[in-house]
Amino acid sequence: MAGVAAPLARPAAPAPLEAEAILGALPAPVFVLDAAGAFRFVNPAAEQFFETGAAALIGRPIGELIPADNPMLALVAQARSAACSLSEYAVTLESPRIGTHVVTIDVAPVAEAPGCVVVALQDRAMARQIDRQLAHRGAARSVVGMAALLAHEVKNPLSGIRGAAQLLERDATPADRELTRLICDETDRIVALVDRMEMFGDRRPIERGAVNIHRVLEHVRRIAENGFARGRRFTELYDPSLPPVYGNRDLLVQLFLNLVKNAAEAAPEPDGAIVLSTRYRHGVRLAVPGSEARVHLPLRVGVQDNGPGIPEELQPHLFDPFVTTKAGGKGLGLALVAKIVDDHGGVVEVASQPKRTVFSVMLPMAAGEEES
Ligand SMILES: Nc1ncnc2c1ncn2[C@@H]1O[C@H](COP(=O)(O)OP(=O)(O)OP(=O)(O)O)[C@@H](O)[C@H]1O
Ligand SMILES: [Mg+2]
Repeated sequence: MAGVAAPLARPAAPAPLEAEAILGALPAPVFVLDAAGAFRFVNPAAEQFFETGAAALIGRPIGELIPADNPMLALVAQARSAACSLSEYAVTLESPRIGTHVVTIDVAPVAEAPGCVVVALQDRAMARQIDRQLAHRGAARSVVGMAALLAHEVKNPLSGIRGAAQLLERDATPADRELTRLICDETDRIVALVDRMEMFGDRRPIERGAVNIHRVLEHVRRIAENGFARGRRFTELYDPSLPPVYGNRDLLVQLFLNLVKNAAEAAPEPDGAIVLSTRYRHGVRLAVPGSEARVHLPLRVGVQDNGPGIPEELQPHLFDPFVTTKAGGKGLGLALVAKIVDDHGGVVEVASQPKRTVFSVMLPMAAGEEES
């Protein structure tokens, strides 16, 4: 073998950073609890969160600051005994001292210190988004009655109008035929719109089974590539070992078609790029509003585009029906997405900045595939 080149001399490495300095810079509260549930470490954001200095917190049991029946303490105990990391969304932490916070909690055991777990709280984006999503559900429901009424009252006369136009078309001059075609096309468009609205009115539980989400995404990509997303570059980042979703295949196709359509409409040609991804996240749980139950949502499907991003002022209303910035848009795509995700007991969230908008859908997995 030829001589191996000597390694290049590197510039002197900068002094290593202390972990504590890094944790100190984090805006999110991070703390470590020992086997007895007493604080072993708190970063400055955690001091602020608990409104108590580190000196007073260290050694003190967290049970003195947070009611013993809080789901966070159960999550900590679970992560400790199962020796795995767990997350839970939309947990309410409440006490006279700290006020009320809706947070996402990540808990992980500290391998080097048996019995110790590190806890990180996210007080902002995610929790608030979920809050918002619950509000969206309300908004979607408020159109339910209207949708049913519309469907009932509008579709019948429309079919009459269409039939009459077709009769006229037979004897019409070419110029008039253009008008009768227009009547037919427009009635078709209204029927399609009403059909979409009608979906909101359907409150029956959906039929569900084990669905291979990669096949769903593959199907959606194929439709997209041959139609509305022609010319956009698709990248698929799939976790091949992903278990099946507990869902309805046709509704999932509809869900992801809507997300990919929005992504394609946002992603500019010729550099438009859409990334479809799947990921398994161990232990992601969501509190079910109004109940003690927690649903497991370990499957995360992402639809990302490199478009201009979603305007800030639009974001609070994004999933409401009839919100659109597009000339020909109905503003029903994301309302339908919210409804389908809701029917699956899942969660959809969005993170958007110029050149990177990601819609993430978290879904339950099929029974029999429970996490060990
Ligand atoms: N990936 C995205 N990038 C930027 N903006 C987006 C994206 N997805 C949605 N939006 C914004 O959200 C609005 C609502 O989307 P939604 O899918 O509900 O309706 P629409 O696409 O306008 O109409 P349609 O009913 O045909 O889907 C869009 O008009 C657009 O402004
Ligand atoms: Mg749309």
